[in-house]
Amino acid sequence: LEMARGTAVAERDLRTRFMNQVSHELRTPINTIVNFAHILAQGEMGNVNPKQTDYLGRIEKSGWHSMSVLNDLLDLAQIEAGEFRLKRQIVDLETVCEDAMSSVRSLLRNPEIALVRDYPDKWPRILVDSKRFRQALLNLLGNAAKYTDGGQIILRVRTYEHTATFAVEDSGIGIPAEHHETIFQEFRQLNEAMARQRVGTGLGLPISRHLIEQHGGTLTLNSTVGQGSTFTITLPLAPSPASIESDAESDAANGRTTAKHATPQPVAPKRPI
Ligand SMILES: Nc1ncnc2c1ncn2[C@@H]1O[C@H](COP(=O)(O)OP(=O)(O)OP(=O)(O)O)[C@@H](O)[C@H]1O
Ligand SMILES: [Mg+2]
Repeated sequence: LEMARGTAVAERDLRTRFMNQVSHELRTPINTIVNFAHILAQGEMGNVNPKQTDYLGRIEKSGWHSMSVLNDLLDLAQIEAGEFRLKRQIVDLETVCEDAMSSVRSLLRNPEIALVRDYPDKWPRILVDSKRFRQALLNLLGNAAKYTDGGQIILRVRTYEHTATFAVEDSGIGIPAEHHETIFQEFRQLNEAMARQRVGTGLGLPISRHLIEQHGGTLTLNSTVGQGSTFTITLPLAPSPASIESDAESDAANGRTTAKHATPQPVAPKRPI
């Protein structure tokens, strides 16, 4: 048994080293391509005519796209290997949401689409890995931008009892009911001809669902063809600072030294809620 365990660990280390190597080997040239195309397009090395500017722009865009596919594949490999780790803490959700909303503006198919914020007066407190939460939110907003030709995209944040919800609602093409589960599988894109027009790999939703489930939450879909889609992230609220303190007090009163929560929770900033 010990030997088998040793072999499994060696295999995992080898796979991790291989993935790191491949990622380095691909990232370095992609960075070179993107950066030099950018420098040339800026005219820093001499004048460029409109056609050259167009070509350089395409090189840069394709480079960024390759980088994002590479990142998705690496995320997927990590998820499959069960090696995905989150760094959870209380984050400023308004900043994260605003950040995602401003990034999505450049992805809109039509600049007249309204980006609507439906935010609460009091933001929920949740423990998230801010980079990963932002990644999931951006995937949903990016999809909404890709599959909406007019109307609006709404980001609606709410608190219901012990959960916070983040709904991305669009007035786009919608998704037929029979595909509501399949689109969460890897490499699934609905309409191949359309998918070819709209850049993508079909990894965004499976990765996003995994990221949210790792946080103890869910990612669900409601959609009607021709009317639009709503993807909703639901996450548990963080225990309130008061309840953490009273847990600690009762533990101390009981003479217990072990923490009540199985996983170590970052200490929430003490501010009135
Ligand atoms: N808001 C939406 N409206 C309509 N269809 C959608 C929407 N979001 C996702 N889909 C459908 O689900 C498929 C899978 O989405 P997913 O985000 O996983 O992949 P992608 O956007 O095609 O590529 P990637 O996210 O890897 O760049 C899409 O190709 C599209 O057919
Ligand atoms: Mg996507």
